Amino acid sequence: MTETKDFSNIVDECPDDIDVEKLIKDFGCKPFTEDIIKRIELITGKKVPSILAHGLISHRYFDELLTDYEKGVRFYLYTGRGPSSPNLHLGHLLPFLITRELQKLFDVKLVIQITDDEKFLKRDLTLEQIRQYTEQNIKQIRALGFDESKTLIFNDFAMTPTMYLNIIKVQSGVTVNHSMASFGVKSSDSIGKVAFPATQIMPCLPSSFPEFFTEIEQKTLRCLVPCGIDQDPYFRIAKDILHKLGVARPVLLHTTFVLLHTTFVPSTLGVRTKMSSSRPDSAIFLDETEQTLKKKIQKSFSGGRDTAEEHKRLGGRPDIDVAFRLIQLFNTEPATTAQIREQYASGQMLTGQIKKLACEYVWNVLQSCKSGI
Ligand code: TRP
Repeated sequence: MTETKDFSNIVDECPDDIDVEKLIKDFGCKPFTEDIIKRIELITGKKVPSILAHGLISHRYFDELLTDYEKGVRFYLYTGRGPSSPNLHLGHLLPFLITRELQKLFDVKLVIQITDDEKFLKRDLTLEQIRQYTEQNIKQIRALGFDESKTLIFNDFAMTPTMYLNIIKVQSGVTVNHSMASFGVKSSDSIGKVAFPATQIMPCLPSSFPEFFTEIEQKTLRCLVPCGIDQDPYFRIAKDILHKLGVARPVLLHTTFVLLHTTFVPSTLGVRTKMSSSRPDSAIFLDETEQTLKKKIQKSFSGGRDTAEEHKRLGGRPDIDVAFRLIQLFNTEPATTAQIREQYASGQMLTGQIKKLACEYVWNVLQSCKSGI
């Protein structure tokens, strides 16, 4: 379990073993609850898809956004990707898939920032590598099927003068101390790292995109950011500076980490290992074959019992079962998921069957994500 109280370096050295509950508490976020789902259904008149119901852990000010929405204040979505590897994995895909569903639910505009500049500053990659990853990542992201007429994808190296202007406005309102403390930047680091947060905050200002938003939208839209909780510090420091610039604070939705390996200590939620490109065995990639996918899911943590006899007698434990979690996220029919849960928990269904189903659902998602590439 992560013992550190100080999460200042979470952005660039996000620990693999994450105690999510502790992080939510330390960061002062609110859990994403059943009540919020009901509220969204009431407001939109639509069913909230499983990936949203099970893929979000916490939020900042989302209740405020919904209250504003009921009063007629609209919002846009903003999310992003740092192009540090050629292929996205399921952990990267989840926030994008969630964003896609939110775009469908609320029928709103979406801005996607590709932070090629960030990866040049923080990773040992050449500009040429980053250019290739950026191109490939954008292709993969586009293929996910966002509403094209309402989606803007841009990379920082190709930003417009208006975006740059807003970056400078943000930079002028953030001190070196604040940036260093919030992101664990050391004085021996490059000045680029200290300044970078302004670049990731910039898309929270709708006026950065005058070709994309109407004049009224630029003045009135709120910004909703679905992202991993490791990105939270950017948006926490955004609050004050945006206030000074007369812009509403961004609203955050934190996505769950998709796990393959996890060990659950009885009665606590224990240690979880998030998917990481640097440990290919821990992650399911877009270009996985059916065979390699099966192997990875086969090795995932199971809530089944040691013997078939014991399993039938005591039943499986869906809530700590990685394969079941994958089914929950990626099966689009909640009724079948409920049936699977019941049959697994009662011991009728065995671990092997759960893993086989998880493979099918994840394979379908990977196929659909690749179909437009
Ligand atoms: N910094 C993020 C990364 O390294 C990329 C990013 C930019 C982002 N803007 C964002 C992520 C907004 C989530 C939301 O991947």
